[in-house]
Amino acid sequence: MITVSTVRELRAQCDAARAVGNRVGFVPTMGYFHAGHRSLMRKARHESNLVVVSLFVNPLQFAPTEDLAAYPRDLTGDAAAAAAEGVDVLFTPTVDEMYPQPIRTTVHVEGLTEGLCGNTRPTHFDGVTTVVAKLFSMVGPCRAYFGRKDAQQLAVVKRMAADLNLPVEVVGCALVREPDGLAMSSRNAYLDADDRRAATVLSRALHEAAAEVVNGARDADAVRRVLTGLIGTEPRVQLDYAEVVDALDLAPVDRIDGDVLVAVAANVGRARLIDNMGLSVGSTSVDVDLGVVAQESGS
Ligand code: PAJ
Repeated sequence: MITVSTVRELRAQCDAARAVGNRVGFVPTMGYFHAGHRSLMRKARHESNLVVVSLFVNPLQFAPTEDLAAYPRDLTGDAAAAAAEGVDVLFTPTVDEMYPQPIRTTVHVEGLTEGLCGNTRPTHFDGVTTVVAKLFSMVGPCRAYFGRKDAQQLAVVKRMAADLNLPVEVVGCALVREPDGLAMSSRNAYLDADDRRAATVLSRALHEAAAEVVNGARDADAVRRVLTGLIGTEPRVQLDYAEVVDALDLAPVDRIDGDVLVAVAANVGRARLIDNMGLSVGSTSVDVDLGVVAQESGS
């Protein structure tokens, strides 16, 4: 694995690979790798010749009140983890390399960014789409891998790539959980032991909601009440939202039918945590996608 910090070196690697017919697989990240990140790298490794991972804590997607300065970082550990997954190029730009000029151009995806996390983080997704559009442009034609843990981000990035005809295939990957159900996140590092235990209420609530739907519940408000009720029993967890939305346009639904996303967000101690599941509801069956449990915890 080589580590590069300039756009010039990154482009040279990607262009050289494509020039001889190789396929580039790209995994954008903010680092502090866990098994969720590693699963994306593994999928990219299986499907591409040159695997590129970017590691950049993007200031543009943090509001001034958020945790940019505290965001966990471990470049040495991350480089070792990426190398162990067979990554070819680790791109670690500085803020000046990514944003050499004051930003006057941003990318905004309408609608999809307004609900769910957009309510409390109104500038967040513009920061994400702007940096991801820049990264896509630096890496060039590729397949790019995103986790369903950040389901709204995935929907927004897919829509951006389609609307702007970017030569990138955006691939959604399974949400990876700890053995006790907690969705893996770099921000789990903020949780003390009591908060860490309390945080499992989010995935337990999703399981409970899934059971209701499997048992025939189709009223979205009833499912929202199940989520809110259960999460409300945990005083350490401050619920932001518990929503049932259409899987494609992310608009709230009244009736649970077809493909829907059940998504929750909450503050636990210093950490803002999100979790979700996909439901595919047909006339005779319900498919529940709660993701997968990591093989080794914390890896
Ligand atoms: P980051 O939070 O580091 O996540 C990088 C990628 O890993 C995202 O696609 C995210 O969905 C995925 N991921 C995180 N936790 C996961 C889990 N438990 N299971 C599966 N995938 C998981 O998301 C970002 O960084 C940034 O917003 C970024 C896209 C890099 C733009 O700055």
